[in-house]
Amino acid sequence: MAERSAVRVAVLGASGYTGAELVRLLLDHPHVELTYLSSERYTGRPITSVLAGVRNHPRAAGLRFQPVDAVDEVDVAFGCLPGGALPAQMPKLAERAQRVINLAGDFRLADPAQSAAHYPESQAWTEPFRYVVPEFDEPSVDDRFINLPGCMAVTTLYALRPLVAAGLTVGDVVVDAKTGASGSGSRSSEHPADRIGNFRVHKPYGHRHAPEIAQALGAVADEPPRLQFSTYSLDVARGIVVTAYGRLRPGVSALQVKRAYGTAYARTPFVRARTAPKSPGDFPMLKSVVGSNVAEVAVSVRDDEYVAVAALDNLLKGASGQAVQTLNLLYGFEQSLALPFTAVTP
Ligand SMILES: NC(=O)c1ccc[n+]([C@@H]2O[C@H](COP(=O)([O-])OP(=O)(O)OC[C@H]3O[C@@H](n4cnc5c(N)ncnc54)[C@H](OP(=O)(O)O)[C@@H]3O)[C@@H](O)[C@H]2O)c1
Repeated sequence: MAERSAVRVAVLGASGYTGAELVRLLLDHPHVELTYLSSERYTGRPITSVLAGVRNHPRAAGLRFQPVDAVDEVDVAFGCLPGGALPAQMPKLAERAQRVINLAGDFRLADPAQSAAHYPESQAWTEPFRYVVPEFDEPSVDDRFINLPGCMAVTTLYALRPLVAAGLTVGDVVVDAKTGASGSGSRSSEHPADRIGNFRVHKPYGHRHAPEIAQALGAVADEPPRLQFSTYSLDVARGIVVTAYGRLRPGVSALQVKRAYGTAYARTPFVRARTAPKSPGDFPMLKSVVGSNVAEVAVSVRDDEYVAVAALDNLLKGASGQAVQTLNLLYGFEQSLALPFTAVTP
């Protein structure tokens, strides 16, 4: 069999949390060549002098940061920039990259008014990006511009979508999403001393992942539930736990719920559902997902109430692992290539 030539990849924003995580994963990808890594602050510096996590990787030697606007011709450019920074790069990028996969929120919302309201800084590029969650919206070879989901949005979708798609839930759903410190990026203004030992509300209302979740649930149900979505800040480096509380449509049984999740996640190697959790340890938790590309999901039913829980690593399944999974699907590689199933414990 002829050897497949490597996919040439650029990572824009490679010095940040998601960019560095992408570099870490892709250094171990047998069919990827990292050809272009951007950082404005560290332009010219070897990546091994900046990214402690990859400095001992043999393939990292010789790679240097370059400025974002000098990108070479590549097969895939990953956008790991703060919201609003990629749109300005798009005219050049559209000429030099065959595909752009964006991890920022710029192009997640399809409705122009919603997009302008929630991402006002991202309106400079108007050609559509396709919103892709690998398990629900299989990436196609025709996709040139892809926007990946928000980390808390996708955790919520993993928890709730099977119930909504099967029409089993009724009324409003209350969702709380708890996230670790890396969720706000490497330039967060929050001092570690304020985060350590604390657990606090981040946004009780108005988080911009809420319209994204509504959009994705609206694609699978005529009348998706109204969500009351609140976010919290956890004192951990990585990880998200989402809990959704709602009621089942009258007459819906626990068995129907079990079947809905079983069917939805029957062929999703990276989303693992438990439909009959018996003890607290059976529920999703950070210790079984952090360090892995796995999202754990569980749903528990009592009478007409349900509690659906999902957990994942925001930098892996919530961002860069999701991005590698998408690349693998686009290029016909094994979906799990270069992606860990195992978590880091203790
Ligand atoms: N963190 C998460 O858990 C997570 C999950 C899913 C999605 N996301 C999204 O992914 C994106 C990146 O997040 P992150 O946490 O990796 O952020 P980050 O740690 O702050 O990294 C941002 C990167 O962008 C570069 N950069 C900043 N401003 C730039 C500009 N104006 N032009 C060019 N490059 C610029 C920075 O490079 P220099 O400072 O070195 O120049 C750095 O490499 C965000 O849009 C975020 O919403 C994050």
